[in-house]
Formats: sequence, C-alpha cells, structure tokens
Amino acid sequence: MQILDGKVTAAQIRLELSEVVKERKLQGKKIPHLAAILVGNDGGSVTYVNAKVKACEEIGFESTLIRYDDSVPEDILLAKVQALNEDKSIDGFIVQLPLPAHIDEQKVTLAIDPKKDVDGFHPMNLGNMLLDIPGFICATPAGIMELLERNNIETEGKNCVIIGRSNIVGTPLSLLLGRNKSPGNCTVTLAHSRTQHLAEICGNADILIAAIGQPGFITADMVKEGAVVVDVGTTRIEDPTKISGWRLAGDVDFEGVAPKTSFISPVPGGVGPMTIASLMMNTLKAMELKGK
Ligand SMILES: NC(=O)c1ccc[n+]([C@@H]2O[C@H](COP(=O)([O-])OP(=O)(O)OC[C@H]3O[C@@H](n4cnc5c(N)ncnc54)[C@H](OP(=O)(O)O)[C@@H]3O)[C@@H](O)[C@H]2O)c1
Repeated sequence: MQILDGKVTAAQIRLELSEVVKERKLQGKKIPHLAAILVGNDGGSVTYVNAKVKACEEIGFESTLIRYDDSVPEDILLAKVQALNEDKSIDGFIVQLPLPAHIDEQKVTLAIDPKKDVDGFHPMNLGNMLLDIPGFICATPAGIMELLERNNIETEGKNCVIIGRSNIVGTPLSLLLGRNKSPGNCTVTLAHSRTQHLAEICGNADILIAAIGQPGFITADMVKEGAVVVDVGTTRIEDPTKISGWRLAGDVDFEGVAPKTSFISPVPGGVGPMTIASLMMNTLKAMELKGK
C-alpha cells in the first residue's frame, strides 16, 4: 500500500508555481492576483479561505480577502462580485460557499465573470469542461485528476466508482474520468444515496472515490484487493485530544481499508491540499488566458 500524498504533491505544484512567479517578476510581467469573498464566520469556511490566502503568499501570488458579516444583503454581495469582475488587477476570484440562507448561491455563481471563475462553478466553465474547451475545471475534481496523474495511477480501461454526485465534486469528476483523454478513459459508475447494492458495486472498483460526507462509510469489505482509493470526505468530528476539540474525518475507514489498497489518499493531507493547489493553477491560467 502506498499513500497518495496530497500534501507532498501540492507542495510540488506550489514550488512549480513559485518558479513561474519568479520568472514573471524577472521579466517585469504581472503577478497573478486571487481575490476571495468570505461571508460570516463559519469555522470550516474561515479555515479554507485562510489556507488559500496562505498558499498565495507562499507562491508569491497577490491575494485580497474581502470579508462580510453574515447579515450582508444579497445586493451588496452582488455589487462586489460585479466590481471584482471589472477590476483589471484581479485575475480570478472565489466566493466561499456555503452562503447564508438569505443569499441565493446560484445567483451569485451566475454573476461571476466566467473568465475569472477560478472555482469553475459557472455553467459556462462546466460546459467548457464537458466539451474540452479551455476554461476552469472545478478545483476539487481537477485536484483529484492531478493527484492521480502525478502519482502515475493508470486510469485507462479501469472500473471507477465515484460515490456522491454533487455538482462540485462527483458529477464533474465522473465526466473527467470518463472522457477520452489521459488521465481518463475509465468506465465510470456514479453512485448516490438511491444506489442499490452499493457494496457490491464498490467491490468491483479498480478506482474507488468517496465524496459523501459520512465518516468511515467505506469499510474494508466494500473494497477490492489492490484498488486505488481516494477519500474526498471532510467532516469535523469531536476529538477531545485536540486543542480545537475536533478533527477532520474522511469517508473511508482508513485503518481497515488501507491494507487492501494499492494506493490510498488520507484525510487530512489528501484531496484537501490538492483542491487549493488547483485553485492556484486556475488563477495562473486566468491570467494567461487573458494574454497577460
Ligand atoms: N477535500 C476537499 O477539498 C473537499 C471539497 C469538496 C467537498 N469535500 C467533502 O466531500 C464530501 C462531499 O461533499 P459534496 O459537496 O461533494 O457532496 P454533498 O453535496 O454533500 O452530497 C453528498 C453526496 O453523497 C451522496 N450520499 C449521501 N449519503 C449516501 C449514502 N448513504 N450512500 C451513497 N451516497 C450517499 C448523496 O447522494 P444524493 O445525491 O442521492 O443525495 C450526494 O450525492 C463532504 O464531506 C465535503 O466536506 C471535500
């Protein structure tokens, strides 16, 4: 069994990006600039946004964090999105989800200029991904593809089972792994809460990807000997041994499953760092696509 180490792979990507920044600085060219809008104080969202800002600092990208109180009216947020769309110094930006209930997330996503939508959530970018037109692929699926590719995981002709069909992880990932490209060319099964005989289906997977949000859901009896297992799940669970009082748990029972696998990604330190690395790659791409 080998670890699909997202921390190591993401660090390599950050290093490559920092080299690009150094080179651009030497040539007097623009440095990529990522902005993030954070609404409220949700612990998970604050942690993710801080990690994104920290990654920018490490690489040498410029970053701008815009914070609003939970009670920010939708029109103020939409006006800010419009201002960022028009701000030539900003190459890409994200609006950290989830947003408070009084704000329509879909309206906000649609308001973002697809050319600056480095999270890849806008329908234009989802459509471009489907048609293999240059654009932005959602950060988590893109990060998983990068993790597989950089660790030389063979995907061609493999049976791949993805559990979870969200628009930000499972569904786009099913398209990427199924497309006629490398990495890709998998035979993909996209499973969800209505799937019958899930354990049996998982047992046939050469590549098993869990994006459910239920700690320890995938147990050893569901996994084929020698399978590649990617754990996307990140759920905060109570842990009195931690100063914070919680820890992140994946969807896979790591202790039980790992010995059966050829490769397995841990939580934390697997898909999470790759998501942030992809966001950084998308930010550079946003600048390059504009010909800067
Ligand atoms: N590491 C990262 O960077 C990263 C990024 C994004 C998300 N995540 C994590 O990934 C997990 C999934 O998040 P998400 O936003 O992709 O999904 P989501 O919107 O929370 O939806 C969960 C998916 O799991 C399916 N599901 C739930 N219970 C199931 C069961 N018992 N059997 C089979 N399928 C089941 C649901 O099926 P239905 O469609 O039928 O309801 C749904 O498709 C969460 O833990 C999230 O925190 C991590």
